[in-house]
Amino acid sequence: MEKTYAVAIDGPAGAGKSTLARLLAQELGWYYVDTGAIYRTVAYFLDLLGISPKDADGVARYIDEVNVEIRYDDQGAQHMWMNGMDVTEEIRTPDISQKASLVSAHPAVRQALLELQRDLAKRHNVVMDGRDIGTVVLPQAAVKLFLTASPEVRAQRRYAELQAKGKKDAYEQVLEDLRRRDRQDTTRSVAPLRQAPDAVLLDTTELDIPQTLAAMRAIVREKTGL
Ligand code: DC
Repeated sequence: MEKTYAVAIDGPAGAGKSTLARLLAQELGWYYVDTGAIYRTVAYFLDLLGISPKDADGVARYIDEVNVEIRYDDQGAQHMWMNGMDVTEEIRTPDISQKASLVSAHPAVRQALLELQRDLAKRHNVVMDGRDIGTVVLPQAAVKLFLTASPEVRAQRRYAELQAKGKKDAYEQVLEDLRRRDRQDTTRSVAPLRQAPDAVLLDTTELDIPQTLAAMRAIVREKTGL
């Protein structure tokens, strides 16, 4: 098999990971893998079954019942399939964001999803974003980036996204949800959100998208020569 390259991007919610990872993947002509969407799909499935995301036994009992597939459309956009159904839109709600964060803390869930992620990186050049990509999923990634920004700026970005979709969530609520998710994602015992020692930190609080993308491209070039 040919050697494949991976750019691993981790960081808290709202740091701009998915937007930037998608743009970087486009430029490189690589696959973009949004791993948060995988956890969201599992959370959505368990929610449909009425299983609480905090119920470790219930989650462990039903995790094998969900078949999560990632498919790409003609434009290269990632779609999430749950047991043969496209749930790409359904998983993008604040409620599923919270539930995905809780569901993702269970070791059984993380274990079940590890191979799916590693397999994609084995077969394709990828830009993969999440919380534990540089630390756990792809510790050998050629490039590791840790993207962050102040909680207020991240909440402002999330708020603007929700507004653009016609959602009426208050800014204060978005900020509170984000802080709770930060807390959950960084304090769980398995694969917590953490900067890998060999990851490059990019604080995007004062950077716009083109500036951040330029910085990322420069790091990729330096690390890979590509
Ligand atoms: O990136 P996102 O907001 O779509 O992720 C949703 C949740 O999934 C996030 O709060 C924590 C979890 N997650 C994770 O534990 N590990 C990943 N690699 C990606 C997401």
